[in-house]
Amino acid sequence: MGLTTINPTSTKAWKELQAIFENEKNKSILNFFNSEADRTGQFSVEEANLFLDFSKNRISSEAFKQLVALAEELNLKQGIDAYFSGSPINQTEGRAVLHTALRGADKNLEVNGENVHQLVESSLDKIKHFTEKIHHGNWKGYSGKPIQNIVNIGIGGSDLGPNMVVDALAYYKKPITTYFISNVDGDHIHETLHQLDPETTLFIVVSKSFSTQETLNNATTARKWLLQYTEQDQVEKHFVAVSANVEKAIEFGIDQAHIFPMWDWVGGRFSLWSAAGISIACAVGFSNFKELLNGANEMDQHFKSAKFNKNIPVILALLGVWYGNFYKAESEAIIPYSQYLQKLASYLQQASMESNGKSVGRNGNPVDYQTGAIVWGEPGTNSQHAFFQLMHQGTQLIPADFIGFLKPLHGDQHHQDLLMSNFFAQTEAFLKGKTANEVETELKSQGMSAEEIEKLLPFKIFEGNRPTNTLLAEKLTPKTLGSLIAMYEHKIFVQGFIWNVFSYDQWGVELGKQLANHILNDFSANKMQDHDPSTQQLINKYKKARS
Ligand code: F6P
Repeated sequence: MGLTTINPTSTKAWKELQAIFENEKNKSILNFFNSEADRTGQFSVEEANLFLDFSKNRISSEAFKQLVALAEELNLKQGIDAYFSGSPINQTEGRAVLHTALRGADKNLEVNGENVHQLVESSLDKIKHFTEKIHHGNWKGYSGKPIQNIVNIGIGGSDLGPNMVVDALAYYKKPITTYFISNVDGDHIHETLHQLDPETTLFIVVSKSFSTQETLNNATTARKWLLQYTEQDQVEKHFVAVSANVEKAIEFGIDQAHIFPMWDWVGGRFSLWSAAGISIACAVGFSNFKELLNGANEMDQHFKSAKFNKNIPVILALLGVWYGNFYKAESEAIIPYSQYLQKLASYLQQASMESNGKSVGRNGNPVDYQTGAIVWGEPGTNSQHAFFQLMHQGTQLIPADFIGFLKPLHGDQHHQDLLMSNFFAQTEAFLKGKTANEVETELKSQGMSAEEIEKLLPFKIFEGNRPTNTLLAEKLTPKTLGSLIAMYEHKIFVQGFIWNVFSYDQWGVELGKQLANHILNDFSANKMQDHDPSTQQLINKYKKARS
């Protein structure tokens, strides 16, 4: 059972949506609140540790119903079944997509003749054993001192997810310091190594392929650094690996017993739930890591079973389609009102943009409609003082997800009230804006003359009608975070399904990698390969500088 290959624009529902859109594109969200009874009730869902209010969107309930009809006409249900059952829906690589199995596999689920549940359980046991050894001070470095620093070396999915979660759950931190090295820019590794004590540092090399240039070079540099202090036979005490390519990891010099598994049925950008997330378990403890998985599993169950009009990931995905394909919005902003979630947007950039940044449909033909949105964002309130001006008064439509927590972790209610008043104020401001009358009254009350008011008035008007989703959770816990991440994973799946693209490959990142290898050779070759005149000029300048 694969995925259908239907061009969404050819469906009856899409045509209906186009007609509805033409009719309502100039209506305001406030109109919808006035004309639709119980819009907030209809457009809210509380499930899987999250409360979603999507009533502040530029969509009528009629259009929303039609979006749900689109999902039904495309047979999304069958797509979800294929996703969870281990069908090779990553068709261009011939692989299943089973990160969901990492947080609750069906006991009979098999892939490539292997029982997935058993593989996952045995990997979890290994992670548990390893992290407990670290936390109990039983994993010792070459001088007999216990490990204090964990350094994750990986890039893309082998970095962004764990890195984001370790930051997000800093409140639950164990007395172990976690570092992440990803960039091949030597500044990254050298700046980090300066801070480390070799006697108490353990490197976790995370690479599904074990062939990624950045990761292998950073790992080699780290090993060289270690060998300034100790002997080759001590290296195994300071290096473990997480990889699907055991042979290559052994070849690098990692003891086979210290290699944690990854599988080809888990995509890199969805791998934080696997041993690729071992830095998370080291940072916050195995039981918190399990809670993260449990939260994700709760979202999986909700996604699999809820009706589409009350299904959080489906709703968010459909709204994204509405804005991208009908309003032609090109980006969406993620605004968590939690400093702990400062890396959420960059994690979601890879998860979403590497997945749905595609222009060929599942039928092999180029698509003639917009696919993956540009995802970006920063925590509030910082973002208010950075890019909100453009979101409030700029020319582009930028739908935004506001993510907030009812209770703070620090217990300082004063700060929490300040934060949350901003949180609610911003979505209200995006919705209502400020009319000319309101501006005029305000300026009059400040004693401004009629002439001055006339000059200033146009600049102070806020159009409003800017769409937002509000996501609220009780508290930022490992479980809530698991649900939140899984929610976005499923949103990505649904959107890729509707846009008829293959979300789980990433051929688009290959060309640059190939060219970089050629150019690396050019640096020392007498005769360069063929390049365009601009690149040729730039490489020549570089070669001169390095000679
Ligand atoms: O940049 C492409 C990519 O393949 C990502 O999809 C992946 O997360 C990253 O590189 C790292 O890959 P690996 O885990 O194999 O080193």
